[in-house]
Amino acid sequence: MPIHFLDIADFDSATLKAILIDALAMKKDPRHKQYSQHLAGKHIALIFEKPSTRTRISFEVGVTQLGGVPLVLDAKSMQMGRGESLADTARVLSRYVHAMMLRVDQHRTLDELATTATIPVINGLSDTSHPCQVMADVMTLAEAKAPKLDFSQLTVLWAGDGNNVTHSWIDAAASFGFALRLACPPDLAPRADIIARAQQKGGRISFDTKGDTNISDLAKGVDAVVTDTWFSMGDGGDGGDAAADKKAREKLLAPYRITQAIMQQAKPDAVFMHCLPVYRGNEATAEVVDGSQSIIFDEAENRLHAQKAILRHCLPRP
Ligand code: CP
Ligand code: NVA
Repeated sequence: MPIHFLDIADFDSATLKAILIDALAMKKDPRHKQYSQHLAGKHIALIFEKPSTRTRISFEVGVTQLGGVPLVLDAKSMQMGRGESLADTARVLSRYVHAMMLRVDQHRTLDELATTATIPVINGLSDTSHPCQVMADVMTLAEAKAPKLDFSQLTVLWAGDGNNVTHSWIDAAASFGFALRLACPPDLAPRADIIARAQQKGGRISFDTKGDTNISDLAKGVDAVVTDTWFSMGDGGDGGDAAADKKAREKLLAPYRITQAIMQQAKPDAVFMHCLPVYRGNEATAEVVDGSQSIIFDEAENRLHAQKAILRHCLPRP
């Protein structure tokens, strides 16, 4: 059975910690022979239904640094973009390459591919989750706040849209043991079943479904403040018919903007996190995004190290 990487919730805590330990070790010593030959002789397909800067480049560079050959493909230029079945795509790719990473519109595309593929399928973002991102985020949180990977004393505030990245943070809270406060408009709430699944595993996740807009209160004493774009890919906001939608979302999300005043409620050494791309003045002010508490570019760098560790987990050497 191939080892897929579709969601953080699919793995036990020990496995996830081992992936982080590997990522941290590779960051310290990226040219170590053990790493640089890991994917020697292997081809990895990187397939995109949506745009990407970090995911594409960190995987492309990461595969190369591990000695493998990345194949970057636009899904629209493949037959799957014009109706070839996902099962057939999975069967064919399984004959050519050793793993596939995909960024997809719909999470069920990943599930369908994973059902048939005989090679690992890795989720490079779906409408439901972004686990590779949040592994890099937790790695960055560890560097800043939990060098021994003990997250039990940490509290994280997520403020803004309850989106794919939120879902993976919810999964991560249950797996890594930090407390997570969610502050999202009720109309843009994270999925209740994903919160419930994490809580059942013992995850300390709080969410006021009536919509607690008092972000200042929720930010009190937290170790990290996290947010994301108000307009995820596929959410509209591109003008035309989407204009009304755009205004409605902006109105719902404006009270959740991260400002310096909110950061001041958090612990003095709290960090500001964002997966990028960031839209200064929307989800967070430029002062916060570019301020001394912001660790957003460490997060971006850690995509590279985390992605390599995920690839090594999915494709262990015999
Ligand atoms: N954070 C992230 O996934 O960025 P890209 O969309 O640029 O890949
Ligand atoms: N929530 C964002 C993340 C981008 C990396 C989106 O889906 O567009």
